[in-house]
Amino acid sequence: MKKILKNIGRLFELKTADLLGIIDRFHQHMAAGLRGEKSSLKMLPAYVGLPSGTEKGRYLVCDMGGTNVRVMSVELSGNRRARVESAMRCPIPLPLRRGEKEALFSFLARVIGDFTSAWPRIPTPFAFTFSYPMEQKSINSGILIRWTKGFNVRGVEGKEVGMLISQSLKGARLSHIHLRALINDTVATLLYASYQNPAYDMAVILGTGTNACYPERKVNFQSTGRETIINLEWGNFSELPANDYDKLLDVNTPNPGEQRMEKMVSGMYLGELVRLVLLETQGSKGHPKLNKPYGLTARQLVRLEAEEIKAIAHPIVVRSARILAAAITAVITWMDSDLKNIHHVAVDGSLFTGYPGYRKIVEATVEELLPRQGDKLIISPVKSASGIGAAVACAMSDFAAKSF
Ligand code: BGC
Repeated sequence: MKKILKNIGRLFELKTADLLGIIDRFHQHMAAGLRGEKSSLKMLPAYVGLPSGTEKGRYLVCDMGGTNVRVMSVELSGNRRARVESAMRCPIPLPLRRGEKEALFSFLARVIGDFTSAWPRIPTPFAFTFSYPMEQKSINSGILIRWTKGFNVRGVEGKEVGMLISQSLKGARLSHIHLRALINDTVATLLYASYQNPAYDMAVILGTGTNACYPERKVNFQSTGRETIINLEWGNFSELPANDYDKLLDVNTPNPGEQRMEKMVSGMYLGELVRLVLLETQGSKGHPKLNKPYGLTARQLVRLEAEEIKAIAHPIVVRSARILAAAITAVITWMDSDLKNIHHVAVDGSLFTGYPGYRKIVEATVEELLPRQGDKLIISPVKSASGIGAAVACAMSDFAAKSF
C-alpha cells in the first residue's frame, strides 16, 4: 500500500516550480485569447461591466447549471441588497442532457411556466444564466460554442441561445416574458458579489464544472466600447501535465481533448479520477460503485470512511486545489502584476467549502506562489450567486443597451 500511495502521490504532484510555469503559460494563453488568436482560453467578452450597487427592480431568472435548473423571482433594493422572493429547483433529467434541442428547451419553458403559474406577481423582465461557453455580441444574445460537463444536446452548438429560449417561451404561451440578459454563471457570480461589495474583482465557479471571470481594464474591446467582464472559460486551459488516469478519463468523455483543466479540477470529474485510480490499484473489492463510470461523486468523496481510500483520494484533491490556486493567482497578477491593491475573489463551489481542508490548501498555495503577498488575495466563498447576479445583469441591461 505504501508503494502505491507513493506512486499516486508522485503522479498527481505539482511542485511550486511547476505551478509558476503554469502561471506563465496561463498569461500567454490569456494574452493570445484577448487578441483573438488561437488559445485554449477563449477570453469571451460578456458585454457587461461591474454594477454600481444602485441597480433596482424585480426580475425573473432561470439559472441552468450542470445538474439543476433553478427559477426564481429576485428583488434588487437599489442599495446593494437583494432578496429572492420565491424560487423553485428542478434536476435536469439525464436523457435531456444528451437528447434533442427541442426536448431541452421545451423542458426549460415548462419549468418557467410552472413557476410563473405557482406564484402571483411574477416579474416579466427575464435573465437566463447559461453556464456553457458562449460567444456573445450583446448582453442578451450568445452563440453556444461547445457543450461541456457531459452535456451533448444535438442542434444547439453554433446556435443563438437567446433566440432558442425566447422561442420556447413563445411556444409555451409565455411571450410576455422578455429576455433582457443572457449570462454565464461566473459573470453572474461576480455581478452579485460586487453588487454587495465593490471590492470584488474576480469570481470563480468550482462546482460540476469550473470557470472564472474578471473585469478587463487593459484591453479596450472596440466592439464593447468600454470595460467589460471577461469570461475566461478556464476549464479548457490545456497546458497542465496529464498522467495516464487523466488521459483515460478524457477519452471516455463526449468532448475528448477539451476542458482538460476542468477534468482535473471540478466536482464532476474528481470522483471519477479517484474511481479510476482505485479500480486500478485496489480492484472493485466489494464496492459496486467502483464499476460504474461516474459512480463515485465528489460529494461522496467528502464522506469516505475507509482510510486507505481517503489516502488515495487525497493527492488528487490536493492537485485540484493547487491548480485552482495557480489559476486564481494568474488572473489576479494579470490584472495587477505588482499587487498594488487588495483583490477579493468570490468562489462558488461546494468543493471549496465542503471538502475538509480544500480551502486551506488553496490559500496556502497562493501564499507559496506569492511569498509575503498572499494576503493581497482574499478568497471568500459565496453561495448561489449565479441566480441573483443574473437579475443584476437584467437591471444593467438597459444601460448596457444604450452604451454598447
Ligand atoms: C463551462 C463554463 C461554466 C463552468 C461552471 C464549464 O463547464 O464551460 O461556461 O462557467 O462550467 O459552471
